[in-house]
Amino acid sequence: MTTHDSQPVRPDLGDPEQISLLVDTFYARVRQDDLLAPVFVGQANVDWDEHLPKIAAFWCKLELGIPGFRGAPTQTHARLSSVEPFRAEQFGRWVALFHDTIDAGWAGPHAESIKDRAVMIAKVQSQMVPRAEPWMG
Ligand code: HEM
Repeated sequence: MTTHDSQPVRPDLGDPEQISLLVDTFYARVRQDDLLAPVFVGQANVDWDEHLPKIAAFWCKLELGIPGFRGAPTQTHARLSSVEPFRAEQFGRWVALFHDTIDAGWAGPHAESIKDRAVMIAKVQSQMVPRAEPWMG
């Protein structure tokens, strides 16, 4: 890196404002994605005004220890997967898109930690959610 580098410094994901920005940016991409949009837009018909703050609260709790998240991802995913089973390639796409979104806008210890957590959670979810196809990463 030189002082002539025109790339702006990417912030870390160490506060709720940046986490909200990440979540908004990520789900904007999910809505355009050929493998994921059918679940979120078609099958679940997600209420984004409700989902986005909920997911931001999820990451704020996990990564920053801020209370507030109320939800049961495994049950929510199980309900969806019982209708149309989640496939391994959908978990892989979810994680790839999440990592790309973070790398494009954020960098630092929290950014790395959130990326690692996403991989672990996706693997565990793919094994715990009934009828989901296991994704090994
Ligand atoms: C195949 C990959 C995935 C798909 C298709 C998927 C899809 C969904 C959908 C459609 C919802 C319901 C949203 C709503 O109605 O408000 C949901 C909820 C949720 N998802 Fe996922 N998801 C995936 C992977 C993940 C991963 C890897 C994580 C975490 C790292 C995650 C975290 C959550 C959380 C926290 C909720 C809210 C649970 C609740 O409200 O009880 N999801 N997901």
